[in-house]
Amino acid sequence: MAILNIVKDGDEILRKVCRPVPRVTPRTIRLLDDMAATLHKANGVGLAAPQVGVLRRICIVECEPGDKIELINPEIIEMRGEQEEAEGCLSVPGVWGITKRPEWVKVRAIDRDNNTFTVEGEGLLARALCHEIDHLDGVIFYDKCVRMLSPDEINAE
Ligand code: CO
Repeated sequence: MAILNIVKDGDEILRKVCRPVPRVTPRTIRLLDDMAATLHKANGVGLAAPQVGVLRRICIVECEPGDKIELINPEIIEMRGEQEEAEGCLSVPGVWGITKRPEWVKVRAIDRDNNTFTVEGEGLLARALCHEIDHLDGVIFYDKCVRMLSPDEINAE
């Protein structure tokens, strides 16, 4: 597994709409493995393919260590409620803001074995799923922030 370079804010790659994956190939699987290694190294909770320079609809989320969810062509098919919490992004280091997200989401995606599955998440998992899926449409979390955190507030987080 390779540690990939994480694209930083300002690179236009982060603003592109990613294309669907037509079918899972060994290359897709290698990318998923490399993304997981990169996410672990960076101590993040989620990573989307455009953040490593690949314009495909692929992302991973790992809110609890060992509970990795790999999503290919993910779609939010249901959402409920609302939450406002602090959010950051590996592509935007040092910046945090409060976003308004659904409290609960249901997502349909394809796994590395080409099977369709659904995953439901609430709280942090719902937020992470929304954040990563947004990346696939060129949306960065601060686009949706209702308020940015000050340096003092970031230190307290
Ligand atoms: Co992000």
